[in-house]
Amino acid sequence: MTTPVLVAVAWPYASGSRHLGHLAGAYLPADIFARQQRAVGNEVLMVSGSDVHGTPITVRAEAEGVAPADIVARYHGEFLRQWDELGMSWDLFTTTGTDNHAATTQEMFLAQLANGHIDRRVSEQLFDPEKERFLPDRFVEGTCPHCQYPDARGDQCDNCGRTLDPTDLIDPRSKLSGATPVLRETEHFYYRYSDFEDRLRSYLEAKQGWRPHVLNFALGWLDEGLHDRAITRDIDWGIELPLDDLGPGKRIYVWYDAVIGYLSASKEWADRTGDPERWKHWWQNDNARHVYFIGKDNIPFHALFWPAQLMGVGDRIAAGPLRLPDDIPANQYVTFKGGKASASRGVGLTIDEGLARFQPDALRYALAAAFPEQADTEISEEQIAARINEELVANWGNLVNRVLAMVHRNCDGAIPAPGPLEPEDDALLAGVDGFVQQSAKQFDGVQLRAALRTGMEAAQTVNQYLTATEPWKLVKSDPARGRTVLYVALAAINGVRIMLAPYLPFSAAALDEVLGQPEGWARAPLEVGRPIDKPTPLFAKVELDPEAAEAP
Ligand code: MF3
Ligand code: ZN
Repeated sequence: MTTPVLVAVAWPYASGSRHLGHLAGAYLPADIFARQQRAVGNEVLMVSGSDVHGTPITVRAEAEGVAPADIVARYHGEFLRQWDELGMSWDLFTTTGTDNHAATTQEMFLAQLANGHIDRRVSEQLFDPEKERFLPDRFVEGTCPHCQYPDARGDQCDNCGRTLDPTDLIDPRSKLSGATPVLRETEHFYYRYSDFEDRLRSYLEAKQGWRPHVLNFALGWLDEGLHDRAITRDIDWGIELPLDDLGPGKRIYVWYDAVIGYLSASKEWADRTGDPERWKHWWQNDNARHVYFIGKDNIPFHALFWPAQLMGVGDRIAAGPLRLPDDIPANQYVTFKGGKASASRGVGLTIDEGLARFQPDALRYALAAAFPEQADTEISEEQIAARINEELVANWGNLVNRVLAMVHRNCDGAIPAPGPLEPEDDALLAGVDGFVQQSAKQFDGVQLRAALRTGMEAAQTVNQYLTATEPWKLVKSDPARGRTVLYVALAAINGVRIMLAPYLPFSAAALDEVLGQPEGWARAPLEVGRPIDKPTPLFAKVELDPEAAEAP
């Protein structure tokens, strides 16, 4: 009974360094979920890539006086390196700059056009009179009409999260010249999102178990009425239109193409496996499950616009409907000292800064313990360090190290054969197995903070067992019983390891080397007689002040 699970992860703009808020918001939850789903035996396809189009890229390129492609190459390379360092288990991390992605985007566009969901409209857009250029999206900033935030961008307000049109801004100013823009007529293709209001409402109302903040946000948006939106721009960086009706200087809008990445990346992955039709196993399969990992500012694009784009294709692609999102467990924001993390505004740590200070598993642990699943969640370096030292090292790392060291010293350097089990032994193992079951349910509901707590609670019960049985005394007073207790503790560790492995891939692999590779989501029997060397600690305690760490 294995389920094809698409783990669809927000595509980071290749326009700047990502920070720990992004990591905790989308990438890490996706990886942890994907690893657990693989362990359960599901067929996971985890895809994403760099979002290389749109004004986030071109604004940066203008500012630096380089080509957009240079910006993309720099940050795509940075992301790939960081994913390796963080242990991200992508099936594919590509970019929206591929021919395959352009072709998939154009195919969808033509299908929706043929179905009557795309039309042409003339509107007035902001134009920079000094630079003689249109100012789409982030080329213009001004005051948000909803919350009066003075530095809202033309596509979205960072303060209240609303999506905007440049013409909505109060007192707009050009990012290129600082000039006050003027209005000028221009023609664009529009996607008729309003065609899908009713279908989207029934789609969303049928969703059980979604995070309340996600569902409420999407339904609230629908209540305000879904507006048709331009899906082309006056810009020269982006995917070309599949027809030349509008004349030169027009490209497809970045948010129309980026979400198509989930589909095009699935196709690219299938091509690479040598079975080009394999993507349909996820996209045209009633038994599949599609789970989207995003930050809350992306909710309208994934809960409304992307489903509407998929609906608009009908069965014109691969002769059948394409699967809609099954769950969108969007995270809220991570905050640093009360402010939303933002690399460009220098709030919070970048991913590289996090990796320079903490071991990858330790960083993953501390962030997962603070995933903003239901509410904005404050994190700080001090809190990350405290979680690593007081929880990860104290409760789990030391437990593993202590038990392995005792087995090495007292059991002839090998996993001992146990004698008859006492009730307290059976109780510990049954308890751990119960925690393993419980965490599987939490993973299914994408409650990754709760599942982590379950794993750590289980580790705590092993520590309590050791305190109660005192094997370090037994190995002298009653060696046979001492070996049995150590065997039981090791068996329990083998169970706890299952729950923590999705969070801690590097140290879990190191532990696998010692105990043998377990399979599946259930405690596997230990291999009696397997040699156990003197252990190396899985984690180091962290010391925040580098000078203090270097002191003799
Ligand atoms: N690039 C967007 C951002 O960083 C996210 C795009 S998600 C996508 O906010 F799937 F639509 F690409
Ligand atoms: Zn606002």
